[in-house]
Amino acid sequence: MKIDDENEYVMTLIMAAGKGTRMNSNKSKLVHKIYDKELVRRVVDLAENIGSDEIVAVVGHLKDQVQAVLGDEVHYAYQEELLGTGHAVMQAKPFLEGKKGKVVILYGDVPIIRPETLKNLISKSIKNKEYATLLTAIYENPTGYGRIIRDEGGNIKGIVEEKDADPLQKKHIKEINSGIYCFDIEELLRAIDKIKPDNAQGEYYLTDVIKIMNDEGLKTGAVIVEDNTEILGVNDRSQLELLTRVLRMRINSYHMKQGVTIEDVNTTYIYDDVQIGMDTVIHPNTIIKSGVTIGENCEIGPNAYIRENCEIGSHVKVGNCVELKKVKIADNSKVPHLTYLGDCEVGMGCNIGCGTITCNYDGTSKHKTIIGDNCFVGSNVNFVAPVKIEDNTLIAAGSTITEDVPEGKMAIARERQVLKEKKKK
Ligand code: UD1
Ligand code: CA
Repeated sequence: MKIDDENEYVMTLIMAAGKGTRMNSNKSKLVHKIYDKELVRRVVDLAENIGSDEIVAVVGHLKDQVQAVLGDEVHYAYQEELLGTGHAVMQAKPFLEGKKGKVVILYGDVPIIRPETLKNLISKSIKNKEYATLLTAIYENPTGYGRIIRDEGGNIKGIVEEKDADPLQKKHIKEINSGIYCFDIEELLRAIDKIKPDNAQGEYYLTDVIKIMNDEGLKTGAVIVEDNTEILGVNDRSQLELLTRVLRMRINSYHMKQGVTIEDVNTTYIYDDVQIGMDTVIHPNTIIKSGVTIGENCEIGPNAYIRENCEIGSHVKVGNCVELKKVKIADNSKVPHLTYLGDCEVGMGCNIGCGTITCNYDGTSKHKTIIGDNCFVGSNVNFVAPVKIEDNTLIAAGSTITEDVPEGKMAIARERQVLKEKKKK
């Protein structure tokens, strides 16, 4: 793990066995998506991002669907019966036994924690030599959550669940347990065996580990999360929408800080891992999918849909109602309006006229359209791929291009206009 030069081993354990009944879905809650990534995929990406040495997912309900998404990237532990968060961790014991280091506990349905927050949790745990470090939050309305019990000195004593809390605790404690922790592996294993389901819900509570450790004089601590939206979870479709919105605002803010102008953050959807150069302007109703790169000083939108595998250079215009898929556009080119380009390369200094379409699909496979530098494509042109248009060419408006166009030529591929007498009435 790469945290502050500490060579501590870190395992991440993802709780992914729950039911998610409130989604009202035939699909596992964990395979529902925020943008193009499943919730549980996001959590695994997060675990990878913080440098986990190993990742274990505890699966159960609809496990085939979860495993279909994660494949063999993680280890699996199986929880047949949902007997509580402590019970879920017990199922992962075979992976924890014999290991020295830290284990971070994450939930498969809490997908938008910032990696920095977890890295900070782990480094604090290592530096302060804590056997359990909790990620907590201060909530104005803490109803439903486990409450953090501290002594007069502010030391963590334990966690009491909502259903087990007394009225005073329910009323006065605003600090809640996010359910995310960093534990010392060996002490967690020792404590987990002592958990008993003697509580209001008859469950094995993972939270009991905190009190058990404290009773044995093992140091515990907490990090209070600064941005409460990071620990939001998904239980129903409204929360799914809320988290999508939170993530959208977070990503849009990031790009604005990097020098991108976004006219309307509410209708701009920039997926994960997009790069946009300085002074590029994004007009409203624009969707830019994962992995797309856009250079500096571009103008994108309104109503642009830039799909997967697009690379756009600098000083490029992708205007109103343009859809791009698997497209490279070099510097100083313009695709101003009403165009679909798929599986296409456009060179420098081109103008692609309104209504241009690449006919890239023949019903079986996709083919490429390659357009060189300084080409002028008139309005309403169809390129029937595969087709190659060389540099400095001109394609006349309304052409359906089925053959390559050599350098410097003009191509016209349409019926010649004829004039006829109008029929008399
Ligand atoms: C738990 C914490 C509570 C905390 C809250 C934050 C315990 C006892 N309580 O509450 O202090 O405030 O999270 O959301 O840990 N899961 C399994 N197997 C199980 C039970 C749960 O995989 O047997 C998974 C769920 O799918 C979910 C996560 O663990 O992703 C948390 O379970 P949930 O029932 O939502 O947590 P609570 O017990 O309500
Ligand atoms: Ca819950």
